[in-house]
Amino acid sequence: MTKEKIEELISQLTLQEIIDMIHGNGCFCTKGVERLGIPPFVTSDGPRGVRKDFENDAFKELGLSYDYVSYLPCNTALAATWNRELAYATGKLLGKEARGRGKDMILAPGINIMRTPLCGRSFEYMGEDPYLVSEMVVPVVQGIEENDVSSCVKHFAVNNQETRRLDVDVEVSERALRELYLPGFEAAVKKGKAKGVMGAYNKLRGMHCCHNDYLLIDILRKEWGFEGITVSDWGGVHDTEEALMNGIDMEMSVTNNYDSYYMANPLLELIESGAVEQKTAYAKIDEKVRHILHVMNELHMLDGKRKSGTYNDYQDKAVLRQTARESVVLLKNNNHILPLDKKKIKKLLVVGENANRQHAPGGGSAEIKALYEITPLMGLHMLLGGNTQIEYQPGYFNDDIGNIWANTGESENGQADSLNQDGEKAQSLPSTESKDQSEEKLKHQKEMNEKYLKEALEAAKDADAVIYVGGLTHDYDTEGQDRNDMKLPYEQDRLISELLKVRPDTVVTLVAGSPVDMAAWIDSADTLVYSWYAGMEGGIALAEVLFGDVNPSGHLPESFPVTESDCPAVVLGEFPGGDQVTYGEDIFVGYRYYDTYDVPTAFPFGYGLSYTDFVMTGIRAEVLEDTADHKSVKVSFDISNIGDMAGAAVAQVYVADKYPKVKKADKELKAFEKLYLEPGETREVALILEKDAFSYFDEESHSFQADAGSYMIMLAKNADEVVDVTEVEFTS
Ligand code: BGC
Repeated sequence: MTKEKIEELISQLTLQEIIDMIHGNGCFCTKGVERLGIPPFVTSDGPRGVRKDFENDAFKELGLSYDYVSYLPCNTALAATWNRELAYATGKLLGKEARGRGKDMILAPGINIMRTPLCGRSFEYMGEDPYLVSEMVVPVVQGIEENDVSSCVKHFAVNNQETRRLDVDVEVSERALRELYLPGFEAAVKKGKAKGVMGAYNKLRGMHCCHNDYLLIDILRKEWGFEGITVSDWGGVHDTEEALMNGIDMEMSVTNNYDSYYMANPLLELIESGAVEQKTAYAKIDEKVRHILHVMNELHMLDGKRKSGTYNDYQDKAVLRQTARESVVLLKNNNHILPLDKKKIKKLLVVGENANRQHAPGGGSAEIKALYEITPLMGLHMLLGGNTQIEYQPGYFNDDIGNIWANTGESENGQADSLNQDGEKAQSLPSTESKDQSEEKLKHQKEMNEKYLKEALEAAKDADAVIYVGGLTHDYDTEGQDRNDMKLPYEQDRLISELLKVRPDTVVTLVAGSPVDMAAWIDSADTLVYSWYAGMEGGIALAEVLFGDVNPSGHLPESFPVTESDCPAVVLGEFPGGDQVTYGEDIFVGYRYYDTYDVPTAFPFGYGLSYTDFVMTGIRAEVLEDTADHKSVKVSFDISNIGDMAGAAVAQVYVADKYPKVKKADKELKAFEKLYLEPGETREVALILEKDAFSYFDEESHSFQADAGSYMIMLAKNADEVVDVTEVEFTS
């Protein structure tokens, strides 16, 4: 349909019809206009797959037998692969399933920057670095949208904590906003051509992000040329006039009083009352519906030529398995304990409740009704088969104490309750130790932990190998709440320490969506494997890594601080703050802080080991272009696999300004490449760095600047391990 045809359609719409198209008329959809052949617009969560179906008027599960779907690795897992092709394949699968389930827009991906390790929704996002996020989000968006389904990149912007998420007011410098918090969104819009963006719940500089003209009009539309739909987060609109004027196209919420939504009758009344200048008001609502029709047109919703999608295609499981495999991060492997040898292990002990736990149904709106989920315990059974005897001991007692979301499961309108508009619940942080447990429950928990600990230690004595699988659950990695601290729950520190005393060769594996404090036992552990909520194939992928069928190649997409009090948001800024949170750490988030301020981490950004060894050397840089507007540098180096196992390395290129005019981080990631190498293989790699690689946001000129001068270009294995350096000089 041409632009003229869309305009013609708009001219035929009544004011009421437009209003109906721009606000929710169900938990996840808006109304269409049947007489003009405009269908309703149907959305669905979310980043880890297509969410189950709910009643139209309440977040009450329908209980269908046919809305089981593929459960995808969470975004942190995807980011840990550092593999753009897998990001594309994963996005493609998500879009195909969304379309297969009849959706028009999938409320994904989530890309908020991990400002603190305690953010409850970290697992839905892609880590702490804007370059890594940008590189991964573009292929995800492209993959999704190839299926005639819109993505909805969320949450725009600075939605970096769950505490008081509905109205916390973020104060952040323009530079930090531009350098850290916006680039992922900009890449998704400009390069990925995302058709949807979701406004965040929180405020930015005093104004709610869902009707924040600076974000939604000045930046998104005017600067980035976004032509798609801006959707509010569910319940994120708070003012009718601002919603009309400030760039939000579609108001969604969690209650079923649709006519009372800010962009429903109140908007109609506002326009009809003449309180807003008529011409402006009509132009504004036409603009909103124009964006919606534009996207509908692009998705072939208006011309009968739309792809149909499918879901649960068995061939797609290979993509999910591969993403899960490549997301596993090997953090420690002293004495080459890993990989374990299948032939030598006749009796295997698996300790830890996460070995036996399915995570798909938790986490908040990212919950998934998975067709299946292979737990680590099942994966080990599947891989080892009949010749190995596997004993499982829970080791600790997880009594499913639940969280805001879990506790609303039985409710008539769960998601609405989870928001708890009075803000009280949303403000109370869960404690890793007790939450709301009664003393009796606590006593029971202690007794059970004691019992399980004893049983696990006893069993460990005569096993050929011991694998520990602990970590977090969605009681902690969850929407609606941040963690109080980084401690492992359920007395796991004690269990791991005791286990390591009995069996120093215990393979320690953690399943979690964010970093945990490991100080209590990390020095005594020879091994540490980090697996995220890695999707339906996660358990088998982990088993394959532990037994060497797969060589691990995941790298951390975020720094793992020793403890939460080391985190820059706490040291230099505010977290969780009060009604207002000042991002005093400015651009010094994640490794930009740990590096520059010499603060040791447990594991640095970009870290990840392999069963083979890689040598990266010979970095050289050639300036191809050096004008005020364009800069381009060709960076080349060699990489060899000097071990005896095929594997993948992630070569990371960081840039540092030698004599910066403004304070800058010691180095910033500006390029990376994941490379698969056979044993003994060497490859020459060439990457191009453009002007952005040398730019910072200059608040005075309100623009990105790449100053003339010398820059160091560093080849690194991770943010803490630079292996080779060269320099370039720009004269203009
Ligand atoms: C979440 C969004 C989600 C929406 C719809 C909100 O609570 O913040 O990420 O897409 O609900 O379920």
